[in-house]
Amino acid sequence: PGGGRVFSGIQPTGVPHLGNYLGALENWVALQNQYPSILYSIVDLHSITQPQDPAQLRGNILDMTASLLACGVDPERAILFQQSQVSEHAELSWILGCLTSMPRLRHLPQWKMKSKLKNEGSVGLFTYPVLQAADILLYKSTHVPVGEDQIQHLELAQDLARIFNNRYGNLFPEPSALLSSTRKVKSLRDPSAKMSKSDPQAMATINITDSPDDIALKVRRAVTDFTSEVTFDPETRPGVSNLVTIHAAMAMISVEEALSQARGLDTGAYKKLVTEAVVQRLTPIREEIERLRSDRAHLEGLLAQGTRRARELAAPVLREVRQRVGR
Ligand code: ADP
Ligand code: NA
Repeated sequence: PGGGRVFSGIQPTGVPHLGNYLGALENWVALQNQYPSILYSIVDLHSITQPQDPAQLRGNILDMTASLLACGVDPERAILFQQSQVSEHAELSWILGCLTSMPRLRHLPQWKMKSKLKNEGSVGLFTYPVLQAADILLYKSTHVPVGEDQIQHLELAQDLARIFNNRYGNLFPEPSALLSSTRKVKSLRDPSAKMSKSDPQAMATINITDSPDDIALKVRRAVTDFTSEVTFDPETRPGVSNLVTIHAAMAMISVEEALSQARGLDTGAYKKLVTEAVVQRLTPIREEIERLRSDRAHLEGLLAQGTRRARELAAPVLREVRQRVGR
């Protein structure tokens, strides 16, 4: 373990799905053994760039807190906190927004995608990546675990660190990407798409709180093809290959080892093996989430503690920023 500070955020969407777990959260947990200083934020200010029901949002924040803890985020080793409770995020975002041009944001993929879907978008959605940059720079973070889809947003944070430093004197380190696994979990119903919470088909997505029966049903219904043998070729056989990916990841074995366990099985029988691996790995997590959910006061207490610790780091940085800017 060397120096450095890690920052990452996740939107409070309720309980994570298998893609979130394997593509992000498993790595969050591993990073706790590699970096001395880590902040994990439940980014509710990002969530409200899309319309949210307030009561549901509040519940989702606690569900995500319980989920992160159950997956292995350790509040002794990582500061786990709710973004909106540290108002410095919003203030730094404003200042960085004043250093960002409109064209720089217009070309970022998320705005292009989401604003097109709705045919319009809020100013908040437009400046979403500026808030992300503020999240990262507020703690002078040096490393940011990101999926490939977020690289352009991290590049904005790097640009803004450079622009601020050039204009006001050196303050922010340029954060670098920690590309987490390139492992992508696909939709069980349409393996050409990624597994996503926004998928309208319930059968397409495994949530980490799904019961063993639900998991068995979803895996059984997973789209494969007309070849009964199990092979790994994501290009030509995306459905069965996705099951191999999931099996290997959940059983913590290599793809080769997963294939050797699949030898002699047709896809129907293999699905039982995949189900077993998923159920075995998720059962303790599901039980822990249920336990944590029943003690709301405990979760709120943990978040309050995280808020205090995050503020202690954020306040002096923002004080320095204000002075540099001229107040
Ligand atoms: P969603 O696509 O369900 O909206 P997010 O975009 O909020 O999920 O992603 C949260 C984190 O989970 C990100 O780090 C993202 O890279 C990761 N992630 C989301 N979906 C997948 C997937 N299907 N496979 C691997 N990682 C994923
Ligand atoms: Na998304």
